[in-house]
Amino acid sequence: MGRLIYGGNEAREQGRDAVEDLIDLGTMSGDVLAFGGIVSNAHALAALAALAPARGIDAKQMVCTGDVVAYCGEPARAVAGLRALGAATIRGNCEDALARRAGDCGCGFAAGSACDDYAAAWYGHADACLGEAERDWMAALPGLATFRAHGRRWGVVHGGVTAVNRFLWPTSPEAAFAEEIAALEAVAGPLDAVLAGHCGLPFLRLVAGRLWFNTGALGLPPNDGDPRTSYGVIAADGPRIERLRYDHDGAAAAMRAVGLTQGYERTLASGWWPSEEVLPADLRRAA
Ligand SMILES: [Fe+2]
Repeated sequence: MGRLIYGGNEAREQGRDAVEDLIDLGTMSGDVLAFGGIVSNAHALAALAALAPARGIDAKQMVCTGDVVAYCGEPARAVAGLRALGAATIRGNCEDALARRAGDCGCGFAAGSACDDYAAAWYGHADACLGEAERDWMAALPGLATFRAHGRRWGVVHGGVTAVNRFLWPTSPEAAFAEEIAALEAVAGPLDAVLAGHCGLPFLRLVAGRLWFNTGALGLPPNDGDPRTSYGVIAADGPRIERLRYDHDGAAAAMRAVGLTQGYERTLASGWWPSEEVLPADLRRAA
């Protein structure tokens, strides 16, 4: 049994050990499709699934960093779509919460904040839509993963290892990334790069010789006024961020149809988040 460090309270409550919670996905050949934050946006997931075959990418070359379910309108369809796609997936804090039938999404938003209100709306909808089969699937997902691709050994984490819902932003201090890389290596062994999600902004950082690659959210645009969402490709010449054009009007209609009209339904077309309070000050538009 390894040292228990993963996932904050969730892993401890489930009695999981960090080493048991780690899955090795082996060596991936060719380009790797890396994504996360589907956030119940089944339309975006369908668009991603449609582009993979044209690029010669099959399920064994796909990795999802979790938060399959969140803000958008079709949680069950998102889970079914991802399972049909067959991509390797780790648990996000949203899967942790729903599997445990927790009272909220576990994003860690301040009580009474706008983000907390948005989360309460979508979480109630997802909680009502998902049955035992989906929750069992979420509970069985690993919390961490490793794989090899194009000569690099990658670790996969949702937000962080010290806390699954840790927000690491493009501008977070290098020491914060170094802390998470050290925690991941304590479980997974030496790594060249880390694939991560959770914060919703795509970026690539180099920290003490290791890459930190966040592909942003597949199901929500990254607050830059462009409705296209983001995913990653790990190619022979390195990882890169790509933007996904998809039927965002259809995804917004699916939100309105179930009463998710608190603001994120407009984000799908505008590309701007309804609130920037979760962002560090230096990443806000008004900064
Ligand atoms: Fe998350």
